[in-house]
Amino acid sequence: MTEDITFPVIVKRGDLYAAPYGMEITALIRTARRMFQMPPRKANSLTTASDLADHSVRTGRYVWLLVKALSARQMGELHVAPAVLVAGAALHDIGKLSIPREILAKPAMLTKDEFAIVMRHPSAGYRIATATLMQRGGTSEFLTCVAEVALFHHERWDGAGYPNQVASKNIPLTARVLSVADVYDALTSARAYKTRMPHREVVEVIRDGRGSKFDPDLVDAFLSVESDFESANNESVGTE
Ligand SMILES: [Fe+2]
Repeated sequence: MTEDITFPVIVKRGDLYAAPYGMEITALIRTARRMFQMPPRKANSLTTASDLADHSVRTGRYVWLLVKALSARQMGELHVAPAVLVAGAALHDIGKLSIPREILAKPAMLTKDEFAIVMRHPSAGYRIATATLMQRGGTSEFLTCVAEVALFHHERWDGAGYPNQVASKNIPLTARVLSVADVYDALTSARAYKTRMPHREVVEVIRDGRGSKFDPDLVDAFLSVESDFESANNESVGTE
């Protein structure tokens, strides 16, 4: 089954509006703009602000590598088409459109109060995606997937995550896959307030999170393809 997975057009750099889900993504951005009363330029920032857009695109690429590495048993648990998850994963942080830019772009560690605001983005993303889904008749597999990964991607296997402290297999597999990809990209990327962590160290962080932060099976899947992550990471550094 995994041999059939091809890398979707949507996760190429700068192509978030591209087929096959361009209309749904445009509708998501419109909903976010309306819901959070944002001016058009800010709503477009998901695709133009380099940090968020590049993070989304790279995370989609890492999700693709993980999906290919899932065991047959895990693939049975995956209730969406792999290409839908890869595309939906790129939108997992859409709730960040609700967060003031000065917090998202702050060139220093966040205060406790600022971080509390950032922690609202999974619920905000879920609201944006479900409202868009309802507007479009409630039948889009892609929008359903975006709602799911948005809501659950900061939950932890041990139940110590946010926003709802959901644990283990109560976290959908889509979001468990995404959380490994998301952390890999966050740690291997430079931010205004931190430098990039080398691939080797990130592998150890993810290995240490086996059974606490991450699904143990997903960490095993990651370790089986970590050299592919390193290659993809080197490629993305080269294009930054
Ligand atoms: Fe997030």
